[in-house]
Amino acid sequence: MLDFCNHLDENKNRILKQTALLADDLGYKIYLVGGTVRDIILNKEPLDIDLVLEGNALEFARILQRCLGGELKTHEQFLTATINWPDFSLDLISARKEIYKSYGSLPEISLGNITDDLKRRDFTINAMAVYLMDGKLLDPFGGIDDLKKGLVRILHKNSFKEDPTRILRAARYLARLKFKLEKSTYKEIKKAKVYLTDVSSSRKKNEFIKIANEKGGLKALKLLEGWGVLPYILPGVKLKKINKSFMDYFNVNIGLKEKWLILLMAIYWQTADQLQDILKVRFDLTNKEKQCLEWLINNKALLLRLTKSDIKLSFLNIHRLLYNTPPEIEVFLLWLLGEKRKLYLKEIKMARQQIKLPLSGKDLLEQGVPPGPMVGELLSALEDQILLGKISSRDEALKWLETRLEN
Ligand code: CTP
Repeated sequence: MLDFCNHLDENKNRILKQTALLADDLGYKIYLVGGTVRDIILNKEPLDIDLVLEGNALEFARILQRCLGGELKTHEQFLTATINWPDFSLDLISARKEIYKSYGSLPEISLGNITDDLKRRDFTINAMAVYLMDGKLLDPFGGIDDLKKGLVRILHKNSFKEDPTRILRAARYLARLKFKLEKSTYKEIKKAKVYLTDVSSSRKKNEFIKIANEKGGLKALKLLEGWGVLPYILPGVKLKKINKSFMDYFNVNIGLKEKWLILLMAIYWQTADQLQDILKVRFDLTNKEKQCLEWLINNKALLLRLTKSDIKLSFLNIHRLLYNTPPEIEVFLLWLLGEKRKLYLKEIKMARQQIKLPLSGKDLLEQGVPPGPMVGELLSALEDQILLGKISSRDEALKWLETRLEN
C-alpha cells in the first residue's frame, strides 16, 4: 500500500500503516507532512512523525490511541494531538488555514484542506505531503526540486514578515542540511529581520534552544550574524572571536536540556565586549536561568583568575563559586576550565556538598553573640575556616569563636 513508509524503521512503518487504514475506514484523509516528508526523501530517519488530517485531528487521535496504545496529549485550542511512545512520537494536526492580522504575532486559524495547510508553511522543502493511503506525493511549491538543488526557499514574499522566527529556522536548516539560501529568500530576510523585535521572548527562546541543540548550531548562529540578525537574538556578541573547537565540548559532554543555557553563557563569556550584555537577551527566563546569568556577571573577576594558567584557586574560592548554584553552573565551569579541568575535578565535586557546621546559631547565642546579623556572619566565617582545613571539630570551633569574640 505504502512504499513511502518502507524507508522508515519497522515500528514506525507498522504504526503508519495502521493509521492509514483506520483513517480510511473512518472516512478521513490523512497525510504525512513537513519535516517528516523532507527527511524521508533525504533518506534520513525522521525523529518524529507529523501527520495532517482533513477534519478534526483530536477526535481521530483519541480513536487511534485506543487502537495503538501510547500516551495521548491533546491541545484542544489548536486542534492538535500528540501520541508518545518510548522511542518516538506522532503529531496529529487538523489541516488549517492561517491568516496573519499583523506581522510577527500569531495567526488566526481556521480549518482547511491539505492544500491550505501546505500553503501556510515556511519553506518549499517543508511544504510537501504524502497521502498515507497510496503514498502519492503532493508537492505544490517545488520542494523536491529545491531538495535536489539544496535550496531553502520561502513560499511567498511575506513569509518572514508574518513569522520572523522563520529566519532563525532558515539558518538552522542551512547549517543542518548544508543547503544554500535561495536569492530572493535572502533579500526577504534582509527586509524582515527588524520584525524580530516584535517576536515574543518565549518564541525567541524556543528557536535559540533548537539552534543550540543542533550539531551545526554555531554555524547557524554565524549565518545569522552574517545576515545582521544576531543582534535581535544575542545582543552584543561577536561570533568571529570564537575558535574552531568551541563547540566540541558542548556536542560531546552536555545533555540537550541544559545545553542552550551553558552555550549562551559560554558565547557571552568568550565573545561579548561587555559581559553585562547577556542581561539584554530577551528569552523569557526562569528564575534559575536568571540566577545563572547573574552568577556569571557577579563572578567575572574570580572566573578570570580561574582560567589563568599560573593560578590555582583555593578550595574556598571554588566553594564560593559553586555553593548553592544550579547544576548548570558546574557544567559551565568545567567548560571554562578547559585544560585545567582535571586540576579541579575533586574540589568541584566537594564544593557542591553542604558543609556540616559544628556550631549552630543557637550555640553562638549561648556563647554570648548578640542576636542579629553577626550570627550569620560568624557562621559563614566558620564555614570558611572549615573549608580552609583550619577547623575540624566542635572544640576547635568553640576556641576559634572565643578568640573572635575577644577581638
Ligand atoms: N512550520 C512553519 N513555520 C514555522 C514552524 C513550523 O511553517 N515557524 C511548519 C514546517 O512545515 C515544519 C512543520 O511546521 O516542517 C513542523 O515544524 P517543526 O516540528 O518545527 O519542524 P520539522 O521540520 O518537523 O522539524 P525540524 O525542524 O526539527 O526538522
